Amino acid sequence: MWLDRLDICNVRNLAEVSLKLSPKFNIVSGANGSGKTSLLESIYLLSCGKSFRTHRFSNIPTQDEIWMGVYAKLSGKDIRSIPIGLEYRDRKNIFKVDGNRLKKASELATYLPVVIIHQESQRVFTQSPKYRRAFLDWGVFHVERCFLSTWQNFNRSLKQRNALLSQRTQLSSIDHWNIEMSDNANLIDTHRRQYLDKFVLLFNHFVNKLLVIDGEIKVDYRRGWPEKEDYLDLLRSSFEKDRIMGYTQRGPHRADILFKINGTPLHEYVSRGQQKLLVCSLYIAQAALYSQIADRGSIFLIDDLTAELDARHVANLLMVLDELDTQVFVTTPDLELLDSGFLSELKTFHVERGIISEVL
Ligand SMILES: Nc1ncnc2c1ncn2[C@@H]1O[C@H](COP(=O)(O)OP(=O)(O)O)[C@@H](O)[C@H]1O
Ligand SMILES: [Mg+2]
Repeated sequence: MWLDRLDICNVRNLAEVSLKLSPKFNIVSGANGSGKTSLLESIYLLSCGKSFRTHRFSNIPTQDEIWMGVYAKLSGKDIRSIPIGLEYRDRKNIFKVDGNRLKKASELATYLPVVIIHQESQRVFTQSPKYRRAFLDWGVFHVERCFLSTWQNFNRSLKQRNALLSQRTQLSSIDHWNIEMSDNANLIDTHRRQYLDKFVLLFNHFVNKLLVIDGEIKVDYRRGWPEKEDYLDLLRSSFEKDRIMGYTQRGPHRADILFKINGTPLHEYVSRGQQKLLVCSLYIAQAALYSQIADRGSIFLIDDLTAELDARHVANLLMVLDELDTQVFVTTPDLELLDSGFLSELKTFHVERGIISEVL
């Protein structure tokens, strides 16, 4: 599955862009501020109705314009082409697939799974557990169809329990939510565990392809409550403590994945460049696992691929990406920084002040 055509109107400095894309490799070059990240942002917007750069949608349309649109034709090996589109005006999003309006942005993600690596992606190792949970749950969501509803049910009961905790309530009036939370928490944990078991094998495989580190990486999943404890028992026994705190302290909403090398947190052990290659290993493994399980490819975006990497590691990374069953978009400030001669089905584009043209 790949984007065949892409049309962008009024996304940041991209006033009017119309591209015929390669189903495999697309390289985008251009000076700082030319519009490279905005191109990837447009594809990402279309995939999930969100930006990786801002929570404020109203900042994205070109200044002084009141609307923006991203449209694409999605093609696949055994499917007919499907038009998909996103329009934003009057502070509202409209998503359309094959002429039909979608109710929610989350429905879009099932059509167009996009994996992105951008400037902030290293936070998956360095910052709060919420980024690691988001990484993990993207994977589980895309391979386990019931995961979204299980997660939504858990969250709904968590909110109800927290609301009751902040009132002077009795244990008996909260127990209905304890049971509902526990059923869903155990399912979430099972799905995450099953996903991670498969994921870790692929992650190690890609780490070995992309870099050399002296030490073994250990990936340690923490489900959010102690391994030996039953979650329902825990919710009941922690009622008083949770009431004092005013919220539910343990559960799958507090899960984490610890990455360590020789016992040290990964990001404290490796260099910035190595860390970038580890981030790439993480997301490439996720895209590869998606292809294996879903039997269809995803779309892979890397913004500023060449930053922090030497020529040999860049070439190696391109080779690994070329073998993936995904459509790839990478950006670089300068084409000289990457040797793309060996790539199959390559299209190269150049961006200058929001105008994108194919390099022939
Ligand atoms: N809402 C907007 N309207 C118009 N231009 C914008 C808007 N937001 C950002 N820009 C401009 O878009 C240009 C392209 O940004 P970006 O895609 O990040 O460039 P690159 O990734 O090529 O360095 C920048 O010059 C930026 O100032
Ligand atoms: Mg950029």
